[in-house]
Amino acid sequence: MSPHEHVIPFGTVQGELRLGGMALSRLAARVGSTPFFAYDRALIDERVDLLRRVLPARVQLSYAMKANPMPAVVQHLATRVDRIDVASAGEMQHALDTGMRPERVSFAGPGKTAAELRQAVAAGVLIEAESVTELRRVVAAAEELGAGAAVALRVNPDFAVKGSGMRMGGGPQQFGIDAEEVPAVLAMFGDAVDVHGFHVFAGSQNLDAELIAQAQRRTVELISTLADHLTGPLRYLNLGGGFGIPYTEKDRPLDVHAVGAGLHEIVDGTLAERFPDAAPVIELGRFLVGECGVYVTKVVDRKVSRGKTFLVVDGGMHHQLAASGNFGQAIRRNYPLAVGNRLDEPVGARVSVVGCLCTPLDLLGDDVDLGHAQVDDLVVIFQQGAYGLTASPTAFLGHPAPAEVLV
Ligand SMILES: Cc1ncc(COP(=O)(O)O)c(C=O)c1O
Repeated sequence: MSPHEHVIPFGTVQGELRLGGMALSRLAARVGSTPFFAYDRALIDERVDLLRRVLPARVQLSYAMKANPMPAVVQHLATRVDRIDVASAGEMQHALDTGMRPERVSFAGPGKTAAELRQAVAAGVLIEAESVTELRRVVAAAEELGAGAAVALRVNPDFAVKGSGMRMGGGPQQFGIDAEEVPAVLAMFGDAVDVHGFHVFAGSQNLDAELIAQAQRRTVELISTLADHLTGPLRYLNLGGGFGIPYTEKDRPLDVHAVGAGLHEIVDGTLAERFPDAAPVIELGRFLVGECGVYVTKVVDRKVSRGKTFLVVDGGMHHQLAASGNFGQAIRRNYPLAVGNRLDEPVGARVSVVGCLCTPLDLLGDDVDLGHAQVDDLVVIFQQGAYGLTASPTAFLGHPAPAEVLV
């Protein structure tokens, strides 16, 4: 997708990017400082509406708040999705603050400490146990607190999903309990824990609908087999997610209608036959919020070094680990960029956009056609609603934290 295509969902006002109904320069004045992140609530709503239209009604949508934990964003989504997925006790507190019912909050992630699990048991959230050690800690906390604990087992599947930008299942993994160990683990704990069901999260950032559908079919087959070993009925079936978004010019958007069609087959087939009362959960972070946010940074210098032009901006890799290519990417590719306050001007010569950090890793756009940008112009990086600020080393080099606004 070209940068121009990324402008379309936001729209324009007098040649500027429109955010929350306002021209970008006006919003920048409202925020009062650059750099900043802006998330568009109407676009978030459109995403939820799209998923509600294409996924079977029985599917519960869970927001993986690790993608964007800004309180206003989580609060906004809490009233629109069915569940919130958290990955730490801190995120759990935050999810509970929104008013989401505890049984609709699921707590995944390796390395949950005894203290965190005690908090989770006390809160009454669904704990997605990743190991026998975690299960032992849950049992101990439940005994100590005299409370029941709701548990699901995170399962490391016996298959891997192709096409994931980040693979998190199949082969040896720090995530979950290996599928072949699950029957023995269930037998070991018997009635000591109330196991509601299973969670399989095999990978994220997948843009291939057929591969996602295949993974979902295999996940349901696996869970159906494991469910025979439960002492009670299967009440929780988390099929993971992994729906990707296009970040670079070579990426094509995910065909979410095709994913929906696959899920309809699963719901009307195996689930209707075997588990008519269990609601499947799809757990999504970036697909819900990633395309709804931008990062806005001001040009502070424009300099030429031996024939090459650099736009130096006041933001950088400390807020943009992923866009700078340092978040696990094998090959660095530019995220979509635009001069957000001059969208209707012809694009200029090719330049490099670099951040204000004293490291060559701080590259936000390599050889991009933003040559018309001048000092004080606002460079916008798209696809910044997920894993932007939250996944960046903000303390690196001691610059101030950026503002975040939901508009
Ligand atoms: C368990 C779990 N759920 C959900 C997600 C969210 O993934 P994404 O933002 O790609 O949808 C992740 C990402 O790492 C994860 O580990």
